[in-house]
Amino acid sequence: MLFGRVKPLDAILATAEKKSLHRSLGAFQLTMLGIGAVIGTGIFVLTAEAAQKAGPGMMISFIIAGLVCAVAALCYAEMAAMVPVSGSAYTYSYAVMGELIAWMVGWALILEYAVAAGAVSVGWSGYMIGYIEHAFSIDIPNTLVLGPLDGGLINLPAMVIAGLVTWLLVIGTKESATINAILVGIKVIALTLFIILAIPVMQMEQFEPFAPLGFGGISAAAASIFFAYVGFDAVSTAAEETKNPQRNMPIGLIGSLGFCTIFYILVSAGVIGAPGISAQPVMSAIGGILEPGSPQLAQECAARAAAGAKDVVCSKEALAYVLREIGWPQIGNLVGLAAILALPSVILMMMFGQTRIFFTMSRDGLLPAMFSRIHPKFNTPHVITILTGIAVSLFAAFFPVGALANISNSGTLFAFAAVSFAVLVLRRTDPSRKRPFRTPLVWIVAPLSILGCIYLFFSLDSHSIMLFAIWAAIGFAVYFAYSRSRSHVGRGIVDVPEVDNDLQPPPPGAYTPN
Ligand code: ALA
Repeated sequence: MLFGRVKPLDAILATAEKKSLHRSLGAFQLTMLGIGAVIGTGIFVLTAEAAQKAGPGMMISFIIAGLVCAVAALCYAEMAAMVPVSGSAYTYSYAVMGELIAWMVGWALILEYAVAAGAVSVGWSGYMIGYIEHAFSIDIPNTLVLGPLDGGLINLPAMVIAGLVTWLLVIGTKESATINAILVGIKVIALTLFIILAIPVMQMEQFEPFAPLGFGGISAAAASIFFAYVGFDAVSTAAEETKNPQRNMPIGLIGSLGFCTIFYILVSAGVIGAPGISAQPVMSAIGGILEPGSPQLAQECAARAAAGAKDVVCSKEALAYVLREIGWPQIGNLVGLAAILALPSVILMMMFGQTRIFFTMSRDGLLPAMFSRIHPKFNTPHVITILTGIAVSLFAAFFPVGALANISNSGTLFAFAAVSFAVLVLRRTDPSRKRPFRTPLVWIVAPLSILGCIYLFFSLDSHSIMLFAIWAAIGFAVYFAYSRSRSHVGRGIVDVPEVDNDLQPPPPGAYTPN
């Protein structure tokens, strides 16, 4: 039977009980965890891409994407609190909807985590190069610092940062709560400085026309800028370490999402209203819409820059660019430095998440056992970490940030919708199970989350949707050609081996994304 292979929830929970963690996190720490995972390339870089799609209307896009994330987050939290084990959406789906759906969710999570890590690496590269160019007044040729679609050949800095983070993960680096708090501080100070300097000089005429490409443009920008919120699942996956999760979980989730949404709206207002800089989409010579990250846009941008135009949509470091242009070059460099310091931790979290998803899938027999091999000295799943690192470096080397973010969003939206559906199914099939956190108004919130995810998914560009379909088809083929016959559940091996016996336990409050 196609959907019959379910991994019993109690077998999964037996694992959780064995490794139960100390409940130490309160609402504040959870909120910090969420902000640490969320603020990254989305706001620092993709603001420019959102402007290319929606113009000033991108402010609405930030609100739409934030709302979809808020309802998805509430569903995630119920599952995470009930099934607080490795594997995140993949594990929940295995228990509720069976192996095939779980496999497809796990397969989609590869897009969420690995491709997102590539996107953040490219975002980091843009800020790094901009910083060096301005700090040392030099002009670095595009060839080795931009991918082929962006007007270069290969993005070496993005590859280097992905490689560096891979190495940190192989030797067992985990981000402590203290480092996370410091990085959150740096990011929040940088965004606050931006708001303080940009909002007072805002010019209202810069907001006109507000929606040059209509509501379609606003939806398309919302689907892209959704990336700016990804990572809040870090909060829900810390459920088993949370004191009083029924109270603190929604505060942590909604608190961090709400905080980021307000900052994002203010920052985007500052970007749009900046005097002398246009936040309107750059069109082709004949008035056609140009895709962010396309060679045509890169060409048009180069031509416009040569003619003296100032378009934020052409910048690879939007926030630093705006500050420099409105008369704060040093602060612009400092904001760039903040991004350079803070973005690697977002890459680390994403890659960590990816390796643990692969690890869990391999442990379930769906991927080769070699993937869950542990390094004798560092105690980390080094094989899969290195393979993930190679894939992330290649994505980062050759693809533009916006394309990677959109592809990542397609996988994330699929996983979020699956989790929201799983919450409803489990309420019906297992209503009496203990739920440390219950999604409020679940019969409204979960369907809204599913609909929101579907709406954003279909607002993505057609390439991303097509790539997702191709990726899903490959996943389907791999499942039937390889995984189905090797599945432990399928072969009747339902005991759940202990992951964290083999892996180092995270320090209290550390981010454990799965
Ligand atoms: N939300 C994270 C970022 O914007 C993934 O970088």
